[in-house]
Amino acid sequence: MSASTTERPVIRVESVTRVFGGGRGRVLAVDDVSLELPPNTVASIVGESGSGKTTLARMMLGLLRPSAGAVYYAGTDIATYDARRRRQYWRSVQGIFQDPYSSFNQFFRVRKILNDAFHLWPQRPARREREERMAAALALVNLKAEEVLRRYPFELSGGQAQRLMIARIFLINPAVLVADEPTSMIDACSRASILEALMRLREEQGTSILFVTHDMGLAYYVSDALYIMSKGRIVENGPAQRVMENPQDPYTRRLLADVPRLHEEWL
Ligand SMILES: Nc1ncnc2c1ncn2[C@@H]1O[C@H](COP(=O)(O)OP(=O)(O)OP(=O)(O)O)[C@@H](O)[C@H]1O
Ligand SMILES: [Mg+2]
Repeated sequence: MSASTTERPVIRVESVTRVFGGGRGRVLAVDDVSLELPPNTVASIVGESGSGKTTLARMMLGLLRPSAGAVYYAGTDIATYDARRRRQYWRSVQGIFQDPYSSFNQFFRVRKILNDAFHLWPQRPARREREERMAAALALVNLKAEEVLRRYPFELSGGQAQRLMIARIFLINPAVLVADEPTSMIDACSRASILEALMRLREEQGTSILFVTHDMGLAYYVSDALYIMSKGRIVENGPAQRVMENPQDPYTRRLLADVPRLHEEWL
């Protein structure tokens, strides 16, 4: 199932700004941010709570309009898409969020949630293949098909729901995955296995992943490139190793001061 990675398009954020509200309640959530996510790359946006990470992620997913600047996919400003093209975009660029329950229809069983992913395929596989692929995707995130397929999302734990989201991504095979704190509800032990599953997504399908996290250790562990975000701005970016070993910005150094647990916890 390995995908040709060279044909997968680049997603590029150019001088994007987002303002909420006006007058004295005005919030500059994202302030002139640019970044590029080439194919087959894992990058992380790291910053403390309220730094604008989710707002940026939502703009990249086309769920929120920038106040200024633009998001380009394969060279086209995604704000210019019509409804049909927008649906195509959402097949290619998938998001997973902090609150996993919000991404599922609560009235559908897990089987239907996963089965519906095949509607996004150019050609829907036969029933037997769908069953096999669903079971394989669930196994990749350490869920047992016979245990979860019959359940409703609200019958899953937070961690199970987050793993289900990732299983669904495996079935959709997007070019880009924007993952906003995808492991926030998972204990450290199963977190490692989820991260491994996400890395497999990149290896096997060439998916580029943008991680959004406040956890510098996690970001370093999974990323090629790091973007450090503070108060709506990217204060530093570069190859993960360089940013970790030789941070230039005082804010990055502050984030790094929290990381000594990195090695016990992640490796
Ligand atoms: N819909 C909205 N209306 C008004 N203000 C908003 C809205 N969404 C976000 N904000 C504000 O924009 C700023 C950035 O929020 P955002 O959710 O992007 O931060 P974050 O980095 O994702 O934080 P966290 O790590 O807590 O998830 C915050 O000050 C937040 O209160
Ligand atoms: Mg957030």
